Amino acid sequence: MQITSPILEAEMRQGYRAQILHFPQASASPKSDYVFITDGLLVTRNDKIEFIGDYKSNINQYDNLKLVDYSGKLLLPGFIDSHMHFPQTEMLASFGEQLLDWLTDYTFPVENKFADKDYASAIAEVFLRQLYRHGTTSAMVYSSVHKTATDALFTAAQRQNMLLMAGKVCMDRNCPTWLQDTAQTAQQDSADLINTWHGKDRLHYVITPRFAPTSTEAQLAALGELAKQYPSVFIQTHLSENHNEIAWVKSLYPNRKHYLDVYDHYGLVRKGAVFGHGIHLEQDEWQCLADKGASIAFCPTSNLFLGSGLFDLAKAEQHHIPVLLATDVGGGTSFSMLRTLGEAYKICQLKGNQLDPMHGLYLMTQGAALGLGLEHHIGNLNPGTDADFVILDPMFDELSSLRFAHHHTPQDLIFGLSMLADDRATVATYIAGKPVYQAPRGDL
Ligand code: GUN
Ligand code: ZN
Repeated sequence: MQITSPILEAEMRQGYRAQILHFPQASASPKSDYVFITDGLLVTRNDKIEFIGDYKSNINQYDNLKLVDYSGKLLLPGFIDSHMHFPQTEMLASFGEQLLDWLTDYTFPVENKFADKDYASAIAEVFLRQLYRHGTTSAMVYSSVHKTATDALFTAAQRQNMLLMAGKVCMDRNCPTWLQDTAQTAQQDSADLINTWHGKDRLHYVITPRFAPTSTEAQLAALGELAKQYPSVFIQTHLSENHNEIAWVKSLYPNRKHYLDVYDHYGLVRKGAVFGHGIHLEQDEWQCLADKGASIAFCPTSNLFLGSGLFDLAKAEQHHIPVLLATDVGGGTSFSMLRTLGEAYKICQLKGNQLDPMHGLYLMTQGAALGLGLEHHIGNLNPGTDADFVILDPMFDELSSLRFAHHHTPQDLIFGLSMLADDRATVATYIAGKPVYQAPRGDL
């Protein structure tokens, strides 16, 4: 029989007192289905959440609980960013192009630097630090075409025990030759990476054809085969982002019904497949995404920055397609999921809808986790899930202190933060129960 020491047990536990907000379940109306505890207690045990509830009525059940007092601050599940490019960290905010020229002029030259594994390792560290300081604890990430750069990213994330989903970009045409793989090497390198990383600790592999124009049919077929061989891996690619891109896909694949059909033909549309953008979809494409249970990553700052268009969130949700909010760094202009939420609101305004802030928060926490099938691990604060969470200070500067000085609802709090905040509001970010970021002013 195992004898447990009460002292040891107490040492493994850690309590946090704060205002707590999350979505414990799947919801068709996140506007009202949230849980908000004004004076809350979250208890973690090792890397998991053990308890969530009201502070005053529950604190007495714990003897000697180590407690971090974040009273007045807001504790949320760590944010999930469902579409971003780690090699593009350094080219954020590059002036003046739309998608195809932007890829040629900025993206491909920068991604070439990632042939150097040491360089990739150094940028992977910067990239993860940026995620953590913005409260993002999980992400679905495009690496470069290089296997070694992808190893570097997984290695860095593993060190922090982070739930990271990532994949090597595959492209064998319509990009500089020095960035091309082949159908065979893409399949082999991706398979090697799956065998090395997928399911190791909290890491997941994502099969990653960049987009239809940069893959031959032979490469898409090879990746489709791989997807069939490994049903638990994720898939990510781009879809219907820009009018010139769509016309190009039609000319490259004249036998396919539409853009999505290119991917569907090769078995790349399924649950766990995340399609970036989906701005200019045809009716048939919406239906196909819905039928297959695939998701769309809505990337508002990128869609505005690259002049790509206005995503129709309401239409996606009418079709019950899971929508996950994402930055698309470096087409996107900020690592902040709060800012991303603010821009999503503005896009919905232009489409004639008002995105409720709770609905938006859902798309970057529980809704995203559900779309990815990861809700038992991330996206909420339910006992038994991984202890990934962020502490925000709504009154992080003079202006926000004025804005939030008086009574506010949780909706008002999240809405105000989505318009005013960024990493300045982050007090601390925790992954698997350990702090990975603490603001310099440090409330610990
Ligand atoms: N389509 C193909 N590659 C990319 C990329 O790197 N960023 C964006 N936004 N769209 C793409
Ligand atoms: Zn992208």
